[in-house]
Amino acid sequence: MSEEIKKSVIYSAMQPSGVPSLGNYLGALKNWKNLQQDYDCIFAIANMHAITVRQNPTELRKKTRDLITLFIAIGISPENNILYVQSDVKAHAELAWILNCYTYMGELSRMTQFKDKSAKHADNINAGLFTYPVLMAADILLYQADLVPVGEDQRQHLEITRDIAERFNNLYGDVFKIPEGFIPKTGARIMGLQDPTKKMSKSDTDNDNNVIHILDDINLIANKIKRAVTDSDNEVRLSPDKPGISNLLNIYGAVTGKTAEEAQNEFKGTGYGEFKKCVADAVVAEIKPIQDRFKELSADKAYIDSVIKDGAEKAAYIANKTLRKAQKKVGFPV
Ligand code: TYM
Repeated sequence: MSEEIKKSVIYSAMQPSGVPSLGNYLGALKNWKNLQQDYDCIFAIANMHAITVRQNPTELRKKTRDLITLFIAIGISPENNILYVQSDVKAHAELAWILNCYTYMGELSRMTQFKDKSAKHADNINAGLFTYPVLMAADILLYQADLVPVGEDQRQHLEITRDIAERFNNLYGDVFKIPEGFIPKTGARIMGLQDPTKKMSKSDTDNDNNVIHILDDINLIANKIKRAVTDSDNEVRLSPDKPGISNLLNIYGAVTGKTAEEAQNEFKGTGYGEFKKCVADAVVAEIKPIQDRFKELSADKAYIDSVIKDGAEKAAYIANKTLRKAQKKVGFPV
């Protein structure tokens, strides 16, 4: 008798805090798409995380819907995976509260993302921003995830997730699976096109040329790449003192499925103008079909509604099982 072998579980999420950037796509979404054949995948729209920074409510609702539509447009199947909106599954808030009581102020104070965001939003350093990593731990642990595919900037949040899970398990037995990060070799840290010393961010509104949003007009995408900051020696080479060119090599590599070194070899002796054109062409060829599909899917309101409803039910079923276990362990009457 053949018994189906259980696949490992993958969990990841993205905030609907802006149209995803090329960084989000290359560091996360493209890998999610490629992993779906071999794993049981659960992908969320982290709208509860998004309100740690002030959002316009009408826009947030729209961005949430657009993001789930974009997941599907990229090729992440809602039929074979679970795609859902975080706030639709109440277990996230409930487990996050429990885990808050097992997380120390000291460890949260060390989070670099908290420090960066506090500096950026000095007028709104709220408690949610501080306990953000605990909610993220709850997300991952609710689904007993084996692997969490993210970009480099989430590494520290994964480490604290593991620490919290281990602390809880040491007290109460094996309640949570201890997850591993899954960070791609190329594309895990895409930098800004105008300031290649800082990561590209979807919520960067200071300089639009710094960020490629994957729903930007296709000609604008090509132009942003052609205008990217480089240097003056006209040599396409990976080097810490050539952050602009290194970033473009990384982008090209991640888009075409090559390493940055392979990309470098391909462009040996090529001038900057020609090199940038090739990078722009590769990015456009990758993004254009996604944009077309996004447009089609957006018109099908009933389908997107059904994906959201279905995803919430499937996610809640799994999450509630873990939540009940944790509630029982801490002494809640369940
Ligand atoms: P978010 O929404 O900031 O980013 C989503 C994903 O994109 C990756 N990423 C990048 N990768 C490469 N280069 C870049 N410039 C770049 N910018 C962003 C991020 O690493 C991430 O994988 N806290 C998370 C959302 C979250 C989550 C979770 C993730 C909530 N709960 C549970 C995993 C598991 C965040 O803010 O991602």
